[in-house]
Order: sequence, then C-alpha cells, then structure tokens
Amino acid sequence: MISRETIQQILNRIDIVDIVGEFVKLKKRGTNYLGLCPFHNEKTPSFTVSPVKEIYKCFGCGRSGNAISFLMEHEKYSYVETLRWLANKYNIEIEETETSPEQRLQQQVSDSLYIINQFAGNYFSDLLFTDDEGKMAGLEYLKERGFREETIKKFGLGYCLEQRDAFAKTALASQYNPDYLIKSGLVLKREEALVDNYRGRVIFPVHNQTGKIIGFGARIIKKNDRAPKYINTPENEIYQKSKILYGTYFARQAIDQNDECLLVEGYTDVVSLHQAGIENVVASGGTSLTQDQLRLIKKYTNRLIILYDGDAAGVKAALRGLDMAIEEGLDVKLVLIPDKEDPDSYVNKVGALAFRNFIRENKKDFILFQLEVSLKEAGEDSTHKAAVVNQLAETISKLNKAEDFTKQQDYIHRCAEILGIGEAGLHTLVNRHIRDKISKEESRKPSRIATIVQQQTEEKGQDNLEDETFQILFQDQLQERALVRVLLSFGPMNWSDGKTVADYIFEEEMDEEMFKNKKVPEILNLYRVQSMSGNYPGISDFAYSDDSEIVKLVIESTNHPYELSHRWYDEDRAHSINREIWKLNYENFRKKVMQSDNSAEEIYSRNSTEQYKEDVEAVLVYLKLKKIKRLMLLNEEDLKKPNSSSEEIKHFQEVHSHLKQMQIELTKKKGTVLYPF
Ligand code: UTP
Ligand code: MN
Repeated sequence: MISRETIQQILNRIDIVDIVGEFVKLKKRGTNYLGLCPFHNEKTPSFTVSPVKEIYKCFGCGRSGNAISFLMEHEKYSYVETLRWLANKYNIEIEETETSPEQRLQQQVSDSLYIINQFAGNYFSDLLFTDDEGKMAGLEYLKERGFREETIKKFGLGYCLEQRDAFAKTALASQYNPDYLIKSGLVLKREEALVDNYRGRVIFPVHNQTGKIIGFGARIIKKNDRAPKYINTPENEIYQKSKILYGTYFARQAIDQNDECLLVEGYTDVVSLHQAGIENVVASGGTSLTQDQLRLIKKYTNRLIILYDGDAAGVKAALRGLDMAIEEGLDVKLVLIPDKEDPDSYVNKVGALAFRNFIRENKKDFILFQLEVSLKEAGEDSTHKAAVVNQLAETISKLNKAEDFTKQQDYIHRCAEILGIGEAGLHTLVNRHIRDKISKEESRKPSRIATIVQQQTEEKGQDNLEDETFQILFQDQLQERALVRVLLSFGPMNWSDGKTVADYIFEEEMDEEMFKNKKVPEILNLYRVQSMSGNYPGISDFAYSDDSEIVKLVIESTNHPYELSHRWYDEDRAHSINREIWKLNYENFRKKVMQSDNSAEEIYSRNSTEQYKEDVEAVLVYLKLKKIKRLMLLNEEDLKKPNSSSEEIKHFQEVHSHLKQMQIELTKKKGTVLYPF
C-alpha cells in the first residue's frame, strides 16, 4: 500500500496541463487549453483542459475528469499504477505503509516468480538462436511454420532442450529458490530431483499487460507423441488462466487504435496474425471466455470479433461466451474460418490482404448467427423451434443496459422478421425474461418497484415505452447530477433557521433504489457521515476519489448543467423524439464555446451564489416527485389486487387522487424553478 503521505505529495504535484500535455498537443485559449480529443476522432479541437479547475473535458464526446482519471482512462492504468507513474514522473519516492505478513509473503512470491520467469524467458530464447539443438529443432520448426526472426524475437519465443534437467541445473546454479522454481511450473520434482517441465518444446512466454512474463505455453515439436500438445504454467500467484488473454501486451495499442479486438484460440494464431500486420488480436487459449477476460477487453474497446474454426466444435465454443459478452455490453461479431483452417494457417495460406478482406466480408452479427445456427438445428420440429425463440428472447433480454435499448429494439425487429413471427410477441417474451431476471435479483433484495415498472411498461406498449425510456435515460440522470452538484457546491451554506443546505436535503427521505446511478447514494452517504462531524466535504474531496465512477459523476455533475445536451447527441442513442432538441442545444453550445475566448468556463459558471436556494429547491422538488411516483406505482398495484374489499378499493382510490394532487402541485412548482430542460 502506498502511504497517505506519498499520495498527498503526489496529488500536490499534479499539474494537469503538464500531464495531459504528454499525450495531447495543447494550445492555450484564454484561461484554458484546447486540443484534439484523444478519446474520439475529431478534426476540430473540442478537448479542453482547465488548469484552474484541474479538470479536462471534451465537448465532442463528453469525457471528463481530472489528471488521475485521465491517466486511468488513456493509459488504462489502475489507480495504483497511476500513482506510481506520477511518482516516477515527479521523482517522488514512494513510501509503502505497513503490510501484513501474508501480504508481504504474497508480494515476495510474486516478485520471485516474475524474476524467475524473466530469467527463463531469456534462457529459452537464447537457446533458440545460439544452441545447436535449439536452432535445429526449435528455430527450424518455427521458421518452417512461417515465423520470421523479428516476430520470434518480438514475442520472445524460445526452446527448451530435451535434456532432463538443463534448465533446472542452470537455475539452481544461479541461486534460484527450488520452491519458487516448482511453483513457476518450469520444473517438476521427481524423486527429490528437479527436472525440466518443457523438455524438447518451443516456448511461448505469456506477458501481462505491462509486459512482464507471467507464464509460458510450451508446444511439442515431434509428432505422434502421446504427450499433450501444449503444457501451460500451473495456476500460481501471478498466473491465473481465467484472467489472462495471450497477446494483450502486444495488441493493446492496436486494439485502442482500431477500437476493435480480434479474439482467436491459439498462441500461433496471435503470432501469425501479428506478423501479417493484424496486431489487434488476443487469444483465449481454447477455453470459453470468462468474465474477467471480457472485462480485460472492455478496458480497450467495446467491439469484439471472434475468429474461430468453422467446424461444429469451434462454433459451439464461440457461442458459449455469447450471453456473458452481451451482458458485459460488448458488441460481438463472429467470423468463421473456412476449410478446417485456423487463423494462423489461413493467413499463411491466403496472405494478409485477403485475410483482412475475408474478415470484413464475413463478419456476422453474433445474435443473428446464433439464431441461424439453432434454426438450422431445429429443422421443422416445432417444439425445438419454440425453444429456439425462447433462447433468442433470453439473449436479447441481456441487452438491457440503458444504452443498449435501441439495439434491443432493432434485434427484436430483425429477428421477428427472420422467424416470421409478430414483433409484439417477441417483445413480450423478451420483457418476460427481463422481468424474470429482475425478480430473481429482487428476491435477493426485496423490492417491488422494478418489477412493477417493468410490467407497466410492457402493458403500455411501444409508444409509451419510448416516453418512459426517455424519462429514464435523460431526466433522471440530469436530476441526479443536479442533486450531487447542489449538495457539493452549497452543502455547508445557510438554508434557514440555522439549518444548512445539507441538513435540509438530508431531511428528505431517500433510499438507494430511487437512484439510477448507484454512485449517487454512495456519495450521499459519504457526505452525510463526514458532514456530521462538521467537516463538509467539497467537490475536490470526491474528485480525487479512487473510485473512478465517483470521480466521473462528480466532475460531470459539477462542471456545468448542460452536460446532457451534447453528451447524448449520438445518432445511435438518441431517440427520434428528442434528437432534434439535443442537436439544437449541442450546436448552440458548441458555437458559444468556439466564439468565447475563455470557452466553457465562463459560460457555465452561471450558478451565481444568489441562485443557490432556487437550485436546492428544484432538487428537492425532484426528489419529492420521484417519491410520489413510487408511491403511486405501489398504490396502483394494490388497486389491481383481485380480492380487495370495496372499502379498501375506496381507500386506494383516495390515496391515488391525493398523490395525484400533490404531483400536480409539485409539477407546477417545478415549472417555475426547475432546470432549463
Ligand atoms: P490449438 O490446438 O488450436 O493450437 O489450440 P494452436 O495454437 O493452433 O497451435 P498449432 O497451430 O496447432 O501449433 C488452441 C489453444 O488451446 C490451448 C493453447 O493455448 C492453444 O494455443 N491448448 C491446446 C492447450 O492449452 N493445451 C493443449 O494441449 C492444446
Ligand atoms: Mn494452429
């Protein structure tokens, strides 16, 4: 653990212009700096850095944050990696806090394994180029397969001699600890002696994202052997198969640049494609993808293209990861390599250009592909077919994040067409799966709200659904940010009768469920706890949180109130009913920014202090409306119960009209005080 003092020292030294400037060419514009956004493609600069506020913000794509979140996002560093990078940049010595004996041991084992692997990597690769056996058996084999020397060197490929213990002896002579040698999987213990594990095999070192060797894959050379084709490093402190994708270190830049990741099965597929100039490629090692691996990909891109063998086993393997990938929000395409080839053999056969073309022309939408395959399997069997439709609905239901909403509609439309069934029916089926999932989750955490919303949404049909989604997507997000902004900006200020704004806000009953963004209640809780001791936290206390989601929310909330108008301007995401409005706002906004020399800073500091009470009131109105909405939903549910007495029904109806009245009054009030929306 890095000590608090060191972190503080690092934070004190941060100069956002200096840091961002290492990656983006910045020009001074008034008090700010302007450059081309590194997070999206643009020709006119809309990426702004404010040294005063210590934040950056892109008015094109909406990304924003502070120096730390910039490094985390741009370099894909973790929080700790970011701190280490900064410490190194500013020559700050890192002081580690006391660690537990277990942590120290774990750290020591990891460090030793890295060192041993590095040693072994060099040893094997030297043999490949300098040893007779290495050259004749290993290098010859690799060259015959078409790997060029520069590729072999880049990936650090090597060779392990046939001799029983050549490596073990060398390592022991160099004073490496036998226990760690065994743990690394490089050697095995045989009758009190250490013997090499990868004898007579070519070696593929496996690197982590920062380029350190964490393990090896060792491929047999001789044919007709009953030994396994590959021997891999066993699970240990630094090698956890479920979290590793072979090739990430060599692919990460290309994945970022192409905004696309190719996934293959094998070591040789990665190396061959890389050699052919297709560098955005990683391998799963032939097993189905895990959530950790999908998240690793998601750090770099949302677009995954799976390249698997066209045989039945390949297809099955590919489809296995589908639902999980979709749940992770990845956009998945599939390319099946023909004629019993794999990507390695196929690229060697047809060449790089034809290979690229093949991918481009044969990318299949994953969901549609699954449908195609299972329909073929089902044939004319109608029960089997019904099962296919049900499976499809379940898959589509996983596309249930707000941003995937349009995509979901689109799939329902296209699949209904393929199946020759009514869109409405498929729609209902998809919703049922969503509901099932929600009620499963709900049963763990009892609540009726989500289920009811879902049911009502379904009953109301398509048009109202758009309305509802519009509400969910925009209104809530905007209001939640307003709440965060008001609390962080005005919390300690006077409300009335000796009460602070924070006191006043916290008088309102709020529970976690009310909020779309779960970081909002988290911030509220942190704030409440801290402010109880009289220390009201400010924006900066949260803006440097090590939770990047909190940082993002705080920056987006406190920067300016028009956030959404451009952020949501995205053809794919925006709905037709509001697209024009957003566009208008966005263009106006952009014009203003471009005209003003001081850019966004001045335009959006409209929150003068006299206005704060209005803003607080507006947020409170929103919270109250939200609560009323919830109460109304619950009440409507009660009304629908079949066995209520007329007495009860009367009561429910009274409650309803009372709530309705409150809603109307609050909405009127909202008209006068609420946001320009
Ligand atoms: P493949 O059999 O497709 O191997 O297994 P490959 O990488 O294409 O190798 P070549 O081209 O035949 O030489 C795909 C991946 O499955 C894992 C390895 O990661 C391999 O790259 N695998 C395969 C093993 O771990 N052990 C095995 O015995 C076989
Ligand atoms: Mn192969």
